[in-house]
Amino acid sequence: MTLAIQLTYLVATALFIFSLKWMSDPKTARRGVLAGVLGMALAIAGTLIDPSVIAGNYKWIALAVILGTVIGIPLSLVPLTAVPQRTALSHAFGGFAAGLVGTAKFYYFVRGGQEVPLFVIVALCAEVLLGYLTFTGSLMAAGKLQEWLPSRPIIYKNQNLINFTLLVAAVVCCGLLIYDAPRFAYLFPVVIVLALLFGVLLIIPIGGADMPTVIALLNSYAGLSAVAMGFVLNNKLLITAGALDGSSGLILSIIMCKAMNRSFANVLFGAFGQVQAAGGEVEKRAVKSATPRDAAELMEHAGLVVIVPGYGMAVAQAQHRVREIYDQLTKRGVSVKFAIHPVAGRMPGHMNVLLAEADIPYEDLVEMDEINPDMPQADVCLVIGANDVVNPAALHNEKSPIYGMPIINAHKAKAILAIKRSMNPGFAGIENELYYDDKTLMVFGDAKAVTGEIAKCLAGEEGGR
Ligand code: TAP
Repeated sequence: MTLAIQLTYLVATALFIFSLKWMSDPKTARRGVLAGVLGMALAIAGTLIDPSVIAGNYKWIALAVILGTVIGIPLSLVPLTAVPQRTALSHAFGGFAAGLVGTAKFYYFVRGGQEVPLFVIVALCAEVLLGYLTFTGSLMAAGKLQEWLPSRPIIYKNQNLINFTLLVAAVVCCGLLIYDAPRFAYLFPVVIVLALLFGVLLIIPIGGADMPTVIALLNSYAGLSAVAMGFVLNNKLLITAGALDGSSGLILSIIMCKAMNRSFANVLFGAFGQVQAAGGEVEKRAVKSATPRDAAELMEHAGLVVIVPGYGMAVAQAQHRVREIYDQLTKRGVSVKFAIHPVAGRMPGHMNVLLAEADIPYEDLVEMDEINPDMPQADVCLVIGANDVVNPAALHNEKSPIYGMPIINAHKAKAILAIKRSMNPGFAGIENELYYDDKTLMVFGDAKAVTGEIAKCLAGEEGGR
């Protein structure tokens, strides 16, 4: 039996590793998801065939499976725009589970009067601390993204000092528990309360739009708490899966910070989104606007059209109309490429997922670094609901909050068409000089409605005025 369990765990670990590898490319991402699901199914099966787990616990396990299914199915049906908050909730559950297991184990050891090995109690403290802070931190992140809580940063005096003191207090309590767990057992609930509080206080000063980065970081904490739980329970699969989860979350948050040219410290303590428009002023000239019909005419005579999708395309769910434009233009021999910025939208891979859903061929999705050298050759750059990722201020305005963030060089195209509803700013809260450029034509309206009109015009149907 032990051999069967170990083999199942080994295959599950291999599947998790392949899953991460495959998920890093849109072409293989679906396979990656399937490998992850299969790995998790094997991990659960391997755990359930373990006699020490299952003995006398059938009813509780059945209850947990039913509860998990009842909560999990509706969670999987949320719209794509709600995926960041759904992911935050998953991390909250993961952190809470680790915290609860750690709590149960602690009282099992202490009440049973057992000698707890030093390494186990250290791991247990790490598990409880990380688990509970991930729980409340992720709930706060989900609440901010869903706008159940104010999404702006909540700032008060000495905030970082208070947070730091809380963390130090929790670590000191853990130190005493590690020194003599039975003697200082009364401090265990204090550690739980401090961790829960720290999770809340860590997240409230962070702006709602920074949440995807923070969620990736909380993902990493949840993974680390699973590693610690694996050491406490002596379960190798939990250790490897937790390490994969923890490291991939950390790498993802680093990639996101780099793509926004922000440091970790700036995301965690910078209260981004609190002070808007600082250094973001642009010379406001009259903007030129155009109708969807004008846009269609401009594009059908182009040799190369580069489409830059952004958050607005996601909110409007315009991807299928965009696909119609792509079909109409390619039918006419126009070369159409999609320029994908790593942080366009509000979650990693947001644009890739939407465009894949609309069956845009993967080879026409081009990463920012690859498309930028071709931008001067683009006859038209069609910006759909994107703003910060095409703002040239990032390249030259040192006072701009997005200075240094790599952008898609839409301003280098021969002509620019920008679809958005108004002159309102995007996530960074700053004006975009691209819209005031002489080469830019604004096509005002909801991205789905406007792209639909353009597609109709290209198809030779009425509309587009
Ligand atoms: P944004 O800069 O947020 O701009 C989106 C634009 O879409 C807005 O200016 C808005 O203008 C327009 N819009 C909204 N709804 C629309 C609709 N229904 N139809 C048409 N337009 C609509 O988006 P972006 O260029 O994709 O940049 C992403 C930003 O998010 C970056 O600053 C990035 O750093 C940040 N961020 C991204 C991530 C990830 S992982 N993707 C994580 C954290 C932060 P109107 O209101 O005028 O329509």
